[in-house]
Amino acid sequence: MKKIFIFIALSLMTVLPVAAQQALIPTPSRIQGGRGAFTITSGVRIVSGGGYADTLATRLQEELQEFGKRSAEKQEKSGGVISLRLDKSLGMPDEAYMLHVTPDSIALRASSESGLFYAREALLQLARSAGGTVRACRIDDRPRYAWRGFMLDESRHFFGKEKVKQYLDIMAALRLNVFHWHLTDEPGWRIEIKRYPLLTAEGAKGNWHDPKAPAAFYTQDDIREIVAYAADRHIMVVPEFDMPGHATAVCRAYPEVSGGGEGKWKHFTFHPCKEETFEFISNVLDEIAALFPAPYIHIGGDEVHYGNQSWFTDPEIQQFIRDRNLENEKGLEQYFIRRAADIVASKGKTMIGWDEIADAGVSPDKAVIMWWRHDRKHQLVKALENGYRVIMTPRRPLYADFIQHGSHKVGRVWGGYNPLEDIHRFPAPITNLTQGYDDQVMGMQFSLWTERVADPRRLDYMTFPRLIAVAESAWTPAGAKDYSLFMQRLPAILKMLDAKGIYYFNPFDPASTPEPGAPDKDDVLKNG
Ligand code: ACM
Repeated sequence: MKKIFIFIALSLMTVLPVAAQQALIPTPSRIQGGRGAFTITSGVRIVSGGGYADTLATRLQEELQEFGKRSAEKQEKSGGVISLRLDKSLGMPDEAYMLHVTPDSIALRASSESGLFYAREALLQLARSAGGTVRACRIDDRPRYAWRGFMLDESRHFFGKEKVKQYLDIMAALRLNVFHWHLTDEPGWRIEIKRYPLLTAEGAKGNWHDPKAPAAFYTQDDIREIVAYAADRHIMVVPEFDMPGHATAVCRAYPEVSGGGEGKWKHFTFHPCKEETFEFISNVLDEIAALFPAPYIHIGGDEVHYGNQSWFTDPEIQQFIRDRNLENEKGLEQYFIRRAADIVASKGKTMIGWDEIADAGVSPDKAVIMWWRHDRKHQLVKALENGYRVIMTPRRPLYADFIQHGSHKVGRVWGGYNPLEDIHRFPAPITNLTQGYDDQVMGMQFSLWTERVADPRRLDYMTFPRLIAVAESAWTPAGAKDYSLFMQRLPAILKMLDAKGIYYFNPFDPASTPEPGAPDKDDVLKNG
């Protein structure tokens, strides 16, 4: 017992100080310190083992030039070798990497392209945080979760290609690998569909604050450009086409597929029993499936009850419910989701849906559940028990439209808000619910709804620095996470955000980064 204690104490002595000093986020699953440091100078040689390693080596050569020049001015000795090798025979899991730094050499090794890419990102982070001098260490790293995501709602407000690319760059540096793109909802439809031009000519007009705003959307060329840009950074782009609710922009453009809805919910749902609706959805999905190589398509499926009033009164819909022996309007909603699952499957993709769809009776091999209702933990458990794979994005603490500091006035609160620390702690408070289902938990994501986010400055503020904590929670094993060490390392990442001109909330000095104003006088704290 005593021996074990001494062994553990010694291991901590070697590992902890290194972990504390190395400004790497997400914290690696394993890092050991060594003696000395490697200084990047203009005399460094970069060697690579062919194929993708060569591509990365060329990129690294350019990226390291900033240190080379600086060192040359200081007349430092040149030399040292950085070697990159993609080696399947190492048998490392997908995305895993090894980074070994000695005073004379740096070795980057992985068995997958994504792993080698992350080794390079880790090296760049270490080098940039210390002016080009990388302390000796050996890192053996792999992610906790396969799905490490960020969702951006561009229906409520549209931010455009350059902003999305900037976020993809930051995501890659943080080893986040899924961009969930919420492109359709009530205020606007944001993706060109050639077969249905009114989707953009009409449906893309307006945003949350201004229903008369000019049409804003991504052309198919834009989408291809962003998907390629993301792929180059090992980020999968998953589009969301919300149905049968949140379909207002579609139904405004094509009223023939509208399922009604009343007052402010007019056109909120698709018509749930016209074959024309399912043909329309299938045709749109053909184009979406062709644009996005990801194996998943998100079909929403949330909050249908907001705007399905006419389902209760329309004689045709009521007759359909009786003819099909559906229990009621809820049964009709579930019928719709089953149809959607079949259509998505017919395109060779797997459907993802918000956690309401766990009730629809879709086969677990055809659907992935995104758990969002933090106050309905039983929905997470039910999804797991029924064999579904699950992605976790509970409103508390993983919705970015909640405020992050007690002094903030614009955004959501619900029995509290979403500070950095709660995100860093996640998923610890709910692992009792997922125990025994580890294989079904694909991962987690930070989701940003943009009703109260109308400009890039507020977008940045709500996203950062919380996305950095998300990255650590999604990547780093529970045993290697430590909030106070995370806070010690955070300034190095904030420096990177400074260099990119990102306006983030500064948790070390809240008064120095005032909350950007509300886009509208009604946009103050919103409960729920
Ligand atoms: C959601 O927040 N309605 C998924």
